[in-house]
Amino acid sequence: MAPDGAAHSGAPGTIATRLNGTDDKPDSGERPLADVAVIEVADLRKSYGELVALDDVSFSVRRGEIFGLLGPNGAGKTTAVECIQGLRPFDEGRVRVVDLDPQTQADELRLRIGCQLQQSALPDNIRVGEALQMFASLCEAPVDWRRLVTDWGLEEKRDARFHSLSGGQKQRLFVALALVNDPEVVFLDEMTTGLDPAARRVAWQLVEDLRARGTTVVLVTHFMDEAERLCDHLAIMERGRVIAVDTPSGLVARHGGGRRAVFSCERDTDLGFLRDVAGVRDVLWTGRRVEVPGDGRHVARVAAALVANGVNADDFRVEQPSLEDVFLQLTGHGLEE
Ligand SMILES: Nc1ncnc2c1ncn2[C@@H]1O[C@H](COP(=O)(O)OP(=O)(O)OP(=O)(O)O)[C@@H](O)[C@H]1O
Ligand SMILES: [Mg+2]
Repeated sequence: MAPDGAAHSGAPGTIATRLNGTDDKPDSGERPLADVAVIEVADLRKSYGELVALDDVSFSVRRGEIFGLLGPNGAGKTTAVECIQGLRPFDEGRVRVVDLDPQTQADELRLRIGCQLQQSALPDNIRVGEALQMFASLCEAPVDWRRLVTDWGLEEKRDARFHSLSGGQKQRLFVALALVNDPEVVFLDEMTTGLDPAARRVAWQLVEDLRARGTTVVLVTHFMDEAERLCDHLAIMERGRVIAVDTPSGLVARHGGGRRAVFSCERDTDLGFLRDVAGVRDVLWTGRRVEVPGDGRHVARVAAALVANGVNADDFRVEQPSLEDVFLQLTGHGLEE
């Protein structure tokens, strides 16, 4: 957690002042702005009847970062972000968002955050432009909604009715709506689910642009590549618990299991000699594929031992661990299982 008082950041300020911190210095005047927590969650618990959906969830989100919640279906990601936004009550714990309590100050909070919900709806007949304009008219200092139409690739659909949009277009409209009030913190729950690969990449770039302008982004996802590419910090959730929080590279370094030598060879090849190579931890077969995890320095020695023993492994390569491996290591199963 951030140090006591770190979340007491005062007035939101303009984007420019948020970036250089002139109107928004922490009391010490020394702590860099990036270290100020905008969200603090401590020991959050929520049950739905018998089901414990959140079990002592704790993490903090720094101002201006992209913070990811990654986990399989039913892990509690949506429940967590909706409790944090004041959209669902919770049983126990402490939550502060931009120094507000979402349980008692939800109305104030709504003016300062943006949310794209996993499940949303609009009236069938409302047009894209109308919806954005209407949301903008409810905000004190909205951004130019026409720019959001362009940014999120909805120009051609500006006059289209909501019911006629494709799933991906609806999704982009909901993200655009979450940004109309120029929020300090935006929550994106499965932003890219249903988007085609090109639209996903555009969405990633737009999220990076948001961060560049000083907006804090909380991103719920179960796409490893998205989490790895976008997130500054990541909380991995499973069965209502946060099982690890770190940077993506920190998670991979701590829990990824190190570099592996990987190659293919005939199934009946005797590879027993590899177990005697210094630094080798295991020799794992999957069909014709052989994976040799170890201390990282073992890779060159494995290659030399294969040559010395006359094993033909011409697709020999080194694989870096990924978040997928982290997940496997921490939970004993993959994210999609
Ligand atoms: N309104 C509800 N009433 C009862 N149980 C619920 C409710 N909402 C969620 N749950 C249960 O709480 C658990 C966590 O659900 P949640 O929607 O937070 O998961 P998630 O991590 O967002 O999953 P997904 O990746 O599928 O969106 C699940 O077991 C779910 O069935
Ligand atoms: Mg969800």
